[in-house]
Amino acid sequence: MEKPTGSLISFMANKVKSKGGINLAQGIPSFDPPMELLELLKRLVNENVHQYAPGKGNHELLCQLGKYYNVSADNFLVVNGATEAISLIVTYLLKIENEPFAFLAFNPVYESYKHLPRIFNKKFVSFHLNETGYVNFTALEKTIVDESVKLIFMASPGNPFGKIWNKTELDSLIDICIKNQVFLIIDAVYADLYFSEPPYLPFHKFNEYVFYVNAFSKRFSITGWRVGYLWAHTKHMAALMDVHDYIGLCAPSILQQAIASYVDRYDFGRDYMQNIRENLKANYKQLAKALTDLGFDVKEAQGGYFIWAKLPEQFNDGFEFAMNLYNEKKVALVPGEHFSDNGGRFIRINIARHSYEISMAIEKIKEFINKS
Ligand SMILES: Cc1ncc(COP(=O)(O)O)c(C=O)c1O
Repeated sequence: MEKPTGSLISFMANKVKSKGGINLAQGIPSFDPPMELLELLKRLVNENVHQYAPGKGNHELLCQLGKYYNVSADNFLVVNGATEAISLIVTYLLKIENEPFAFLAFNPVYESYKHLPRIFNKKFVSFHLNETGYVNFTALEKTIVDESVKLIFMASPGNPFGKIWNKTELDSLIDICIKNQVFLIIDAVYADLYFSEPPYLPFHKFNEYVFYVNAFSKRFSITGWRVGYLWAHTKHMAALMDVHDYIGLCAPSILQQAIASYVDRYDFGRDYMQNIRENLKANYKQLAKALTDLGFDVKEAQGGYFIWAKLPEQFNDGFEFAMNLYNEKKVALVPGEHFSDNGGRFIRINIARHSYEISMAIEKIKEFINKS
């Protein structure tokens, strides 16, 4: 079967966009954003909020972030989604590090973590978690030293595997980074979307080696707004701003203002996020059970948008499986090879969809498997 050269996520999602079907490929939520946020946005249309926002971010929004995380607002920078936050930090580190170095992320790997090193012609190391999803820290430290790793990406919960790093693991990772003078990007875009316990995110331990990235994209189901933020140590802020001025300039001003007013009035969207968490958890439980009954090996996720599962015994190629499933049943998901060099027998499924789409997809996957 001939394979496309670009992103398999876009490839599968575009099929639904052009020929219809259920799109469980791309990480797009079908949940509505908070109604109150949309009302606030409507009211802002006639206000004077249509020109460039301050480069560092809307002042009110920065203050709200400082309050929410209980740290100084001065260490936040509002940017165009987590995507800009990550690429901004990478660009900045490439500028300050003169020696050649490698990037590392945990397998299976979220796209940006491996494509940014590719774009900048840098070595990328994919570090495998063990069978149960845990990290061998001795092997990790050895890899860091052997491969001259200078930047590690991690997400908690992760994408495509919704692992949440526990306290011991994240503390060990931060300690290893400090000891070896390696930078760490903690990507927390799914941090509020956990299924039972919130992830451990120790702001008190953050230091000059740790960058924290987040966005409102997934949290408020506004992936198209492009408002994200980063936290960095004071030492890096001026130089990060310098790069941001020429790469992102500023995040959309009216959208930042709407978010600032919403988080101020609605307790940082606590009720909305609670509701989204419940929906995600219910979808995860329903789909994970159905897939397990069909013979999939579903890796147990603790949060986030995705199911990461190994195909039943009778299938051995995730790409072929995804193509045939779409062609026959119009359900799009992503072949695991997109995220992992040993993901050939895996698939990733987006669960951030209305429950009726999940139920429909389950029926179609069942029909597909039962006739195969
Ligand atoms: C782990 C992870 N980080 C970052 C992003 C990008 O977030 P944003 O849409 O805010 O740029 C995504 C989006 O899917 C993601 O899954």
